[in-house]
Parts: sequence; C-alpha cells; structure tokens
Amino acid sequence: MIEVRDCRKAFADRVVLDGLQFTVARGETYGLLGPNGAGKTTAISILCNLLDADDGVVMINGSPVCEATKFTVGVVPQEISIYKDLTCRENMLFFGKVYGLREPERTERVNELVRIFHLEEYTRAQVSKMSGGWQRRVNIAVALVHSPAVLILDEPTAGLDVEARYELWELIESLQSQGVTILLTTHHLDEAERLCSRIGIMQNGRIVAEGTLDELRKLVPARQLAVVETGDEESLLKRASSLGWDHRRYGGKLTLLLPREFALREIIETLDDVPVTSISLREVGLEHVYMEATAQE
Ligand SMILES: Nc1ncnc2c1ncn2[C@@H]1O[C@H](COP(=O)(O)OP(=O)(O)OP(=O)(O)O)[C@@H](O)[C@H]1O
Ligand SMILES: [Mg+2]
Repeated sequence: MIEVRDCRKAFADRVVLDGLQFTVARGETYGLLGPNGAGKTTAISILCNLLDADDGVVMINGSPVCEATKFTVGVVPQEISIYKDLTCRENMLFFGKVYGLREPERTERVNELVRIFHLEEYTRAQVSKMSGGWQRRVNIAVALVHSPAVLILDEPTAGLDVEARYELWELIESLQSQGVTILLTTHHLDEAERLCSRIGIMQNGRIVAEGTLDELRKLVPARQLAVVETGDEESLLKRASSLGWDHRRYGGKLTLLLPREFALREIIETLDDVPVTSISLREVGLEHVYMEATAQE
C-alpha cells in the first residue's frame, strides 16, 4: 500500500531525506521511529502530497502520490490541524465534505465517529475550548471521516494521558482488524512494540534498521542483558571483558551483554570477585535495538 524508494529531499543545502526506503503491505502497521529531526514528518508530508520529494519513488496503493491518492489516505499530523474555531462536529462535517461524502452518508459517518471516539459530550464544543488530548482525538476522528484504506499517524499519542493512550491503542487495534494499513511514528517504544508488525528505525533521513521486533532484537549482540551497579567499574569491566562480555550504557546504566540466558545466581557467582551493589537481568527490547541502531551512525 505504501512504497518509498530512494526518496531524497533537501531544504536549501540541508539534506533531510537521504535515500529513504521502506514499504508497508496492505493491512500492515509499520512504525517509523527515529530521533528528533530524523525526517519522519518530512516523509509523511511527502506521502500526503503536501511536499514534493526531490527524487525517488513514492507510491500509495500502486499510484505515484498525487491529489487523487489523498483520498486513499487519512492523516493525523504531528500538530493539531483542525479548525479550532469550529465545533468538533462542524470539523468532521467539513472534512467529510472535503473528502466528497454526500448526505446522508456524511452525517451517518460523523455520528458513528462521535460514538467510536466518545465525543458525545463535545460535539457542540468549540475545539479551542477542548483540552489538547481531546483535540487530538477529534483530529484522529477527522482523519477517518472518509474511511481511508491507509491511515498515517504522526506521534498520535504525544500529550495524551495514560487512559487516552490505551484507548487510542485499542482503537488502532480495531482499525488493524478491519484491514486498515497504518503508518505511525512515535517516540514511545512500548507503543511501537505493541502496535507495529514491522518497525523501521530512521536516522539522518534513511532507515538504519528494519524488521519485526524479533528480527530487530538480533541486532543487539546479546541474548540477555544484565544491568549492573558497582562502586568499581574498572574491575567489573575487566572481569566482563575476560569473560568475553561486551557492555553498553543504556540511559546511563551500565549494562552487560550476555551471550546466553543466565540465572541470577549464576551471574552473581560469576562476578563474585567484583564489588557489585545490584544486578538485574533484562530481555533485549526495542529500546536496546533503538540505541544500537542509532549509535552506529
Ligand atoms: N519546511 C522546512 N524548511 C526547512 N527545514 C525543514 C523544514 N521542515 C523540516 N525541516 C528540517 O528537516 C529536518 C527533519 O525534520 P522532520 O520534522 O521531518 O523530523 P522528525 O523526524 O519528524 O522529527 P521529530 O521527531 O522532532 O518530529 C529537521 O532538521 C528540520 O529542521
Ligand atoms: Mg516529526
């Protein structure tokens, strides 16, 4: 449904997309991750025909991106992009019209979205008077008004409270079960782990690691991690090195990369001659893959 091949984009002499390449199959949820400024939003703007690429192939459902492909795509931009002076209902009706919905389908669709998003209380509320999280919900409802086959969400849960985030995850899962193809960016790695069938980690305008979570885990040269606190780091690292164990610092915490799974007792015994104040064993997660992939550049 989405194909981006060798996509390039520069603003003046600043290269923002540098051979970006990824595809999203029908019904798949693809997560685009990457640090601030990696080029995620720029890529989305190109996919939505809001910005032209300098070079490369960008296709939606087999057609090069153009005005017509906009009807296949629903987008929730990073910044709230609905009319704040209008009510929530007026926004949905307006965008329904923009996307060519006729009456009575348009009103029926808006009523359905009001139900799905629990917006009953807010239909008459001016968007500017709603909280940021509720505005975001309305923005997502608006993106779905024309029942698009592809939904693009740029940091959909930024600024949402915990409950609203969980609700949105459930909503995304229900869209997944309806076969909607989803492209989403997020800085919440737990969100990507839960929702995405495949993940692309972007840096400096291109994908530096890609795959399912299991495939990505293999990029970390460890079967298990041991987060260790010690008063004598030098001795610990010397011991680890003599065992052939590499190490990293994830979020400032010294972490040993273990070549196989260990029981806690085994690790404690192995590090017996080193002053260690705490050890905790952890599975390799997306957080570690992300650090590995973005550190390589
Ligand atoms: N219209 C523009 N003119 C000039 N530079 C731009 C423009 N839009 C984006 N950029 C630059 O392109 C780079 C990538 O920006 P982009 O918004 O795509 O990053 P991002 O991955 O979405 O980051 P974030 O995680 O912060 O949302 C940044 O350095 C940004 O300053
Ligand atoms: Mg962005």
